Amino acid sequence: MVTPVIVILLYVVQEVMPQGAVEDTFSRDLWLRCALLAARKDRRFCCQKANGFGARSLRDCAQAGAWSTTPESDRISIEPGVPRENCEFCKIGRYNLSPTIFFSATPPDDGTLCRYYAHNANYCFKLPECVSFEEGAMIEPLSVGIHACRRGGVHMGQRVLILGAGTIGLMNLLVAKSMGADPIVVVDLVQERLDMAKCMGASCVCKMEKNTCPREMASKAKTALCGMPNVSIECTGADQCVQTAIHATNPGGVVVLIGLGNTNTSAPLLTAATRELDIRGIFRYCNTWPTAINMLASKKVDVNPMITHRFPLDQAIEAFELVKKGGGLKVIINCEEPEKKEHKQSKSLEECQKQCQQLLQQCQQQCQQMQKEQKEHCGRTAGR
Ligand SMILES: *[C@@H]1O[C@H](CO)[C@@H](O)[C@H](O)[C@H]1NC(C)=O
Ligand SMILES: *[C@@H]1O[C@H](CO)[C@@H](O)[C@H](O)[C@H]1NC(C)=O
Repeated sequence: MVTPVIVILLYVVQEVMPQGAVEDTFSRDLWLRCALLAARKDRRFCCQKANGFGARSLRDCAQAGAWSTTPESDRISIEPGVPRENCEFCKIGRYNLSPTIFFSATPPDDGTLCRYYAHNANYCFKLPECVSFEEGAMIEPLSVGIHACRRGGVHMGQRVLILGAGTIGLMNLLVAKSMGADPIVVVDLVQERLDMAKCMGASCVCKMEKNTCPREMASKAKTALCGMPNVSIECTGADQCVQTAIHATNPGGVVVLIGLGNTNTSAPLLTAATRELDIRGIFRYCNTWPTAINMLASKKVDVNPMITHRFPLDQAIEAFELVKKGGGLKVIINCEEPEKKEHKQSKSLEECQKQCQQLLQQCQQQCQQMQKEQKEHCGRTAGR
């Protein structure tokens, strides 16, 4: 399951120092409690190596922060993965595959839940004025969408099926749409997430139940897309969705696997083989920051509706508690020191909720209209 990710605002210190979190007076106790909460988020990466949640593991568990700034200079977004050596993967431009890569919040590498953070300047990207810090923070998950759509070879006029409407599913929706894919159908178990997907531009959404048979789901997706998808992007890791993706995809098409589920997942590989489906995995991302910044600057994609909550650093516990309970979509922890806060205040929670409610209402109306049109369109196509 892909769970919401915490993104963080912080400062980069200017002196030369080893990469990673820089000690400050910030309470170790807070780190410890956050680490315990983070442990549930991603066992593989977070806490396997934590020995008894000792001091070292605390920072390890703080989720990768995505953007940072120096107090009086450039506004930047940081890419958390930095190769340590110029290995063969770096030479061919796929540095995310480098086995020795530094990656924030992946033990033993520090996470960024701190006020000061040292990072390789080559992996810090200047933000143009029209891209806000919060948008800069969203480049990390947006990058997953860019990388997945590139790997899937998504392009103009293709039918795309997205399984899962969490942050990663929605990011893939935004990217596939901006790459010209159409129609795009999003599948999820939860109606509110589907409403959000609809809101963010899905042509159609399909609700899945825990016990829906993958073949049946695939056929539903085909109906919604008026044809089999050329590319299916799996963002949940659930066997049921992996199976649906394989059953649904048009012969010769591509299935992209993003979700991390069972190690030994059960999937109809014979179906995939005899249809010449390409099953492609993704591991994080590479070379995505410049693209993402341009996408945000051009306003072609809007990631703001995905930010549902904001917390200051000293309320980080509450942020993790919220995520643990499954609340919110994208939660921001602002690590700026209170006295250095920008005057420009972010929207209050109430304002956000109100705006989201309005958007949802609009979307539901649009959705009904589009479903009606889609039905008519499918009817006509079938009758031809
Ligand atoms: C995409 O899939 C449709 C079937 O839904 C197929 O007719 C079309 O040729 C495919 N396009 C590409 C580029 O493979
Ligand atoms: C996966 O399958 C292999 C081979 O059957 C087995 O050795 C391994 O323990 C399994 N892994 C898990 C996590 O079940």
